[in-house]
Amino acid sequence: MRAIYPGSFDPITNGHIDIIIRASKLFDELRIAVGGNILKNSVFSIDERVELIEASLRSQDVDISKIIVEKFDSLLIDYAKKVNADVIIRGLRAVSDYEYELQMALANKEMNENIETIFLVSSGKYSYLSSSLVKEIAYFEGDLDNFVPDVVKKNLRNKFQ
Ligand code: COA
Repeated sequence: MRAIYPGSFDPITNGHIDIIIRASKLFDELRIAVGGNILKNSVFSIDERVELIEASLRSQDVDISKIIVEKFDSLLIDYAKKVNADVIIRGLRAVSDYEYELQMALANKEMNENIETIFLVSSGKYSYLSSSLVKEIAYFEGDLDNFVPDVVKKNLRNKFQ
């Protein structure tokens, strides 16, 4: 089975990596799909976000043979069909994620009933983590050690210098 894990990843965090490692064990192929949420202003360009994901995975003990990182610029469901994905993976951190995720899953199901959304529950230690939180800590020069891989930390420092 082929899965995609979509998101804006601005930037990737240890919470995303936790989901990627767990999802990659469940599927034959995992495509990390980096998209733009049109309602969000991003700090990193889409190409920078792809590079940071690739570099982060290389620096971890992750079997990257089944993982592809790619950007997309369309409806998620159209991209999923284009790459023949069976499943969309989303992480659920807390109850507060549920309403938004349910809306997206139902809309995607309405547009293509053959593609399922599967939720993985975030590990407790990352359930509070978000890319915005990480950017705010970086902006105020806080300690990012437990939140992002070193390569992301370095790039955040450069952005906010
Ligand atoms: N660890 C850490 N953070 C996590 C996380 C985890 N396991 N799971 C979610 N998050 C955080 C992200 O860091 C992000 O934080 P931020 O808001 O501070 O940036 C937040 O949760 C949600 O981000 P993400 O999962 O990337 O979702 P998104 O809303 O930014 O983008 C897309 C989701 C790209 C998949 C969606 O907008 C999309 O499909 N776009 C294409 C257009 C489309 O098809 N629209 C119709 C959809 S029905």
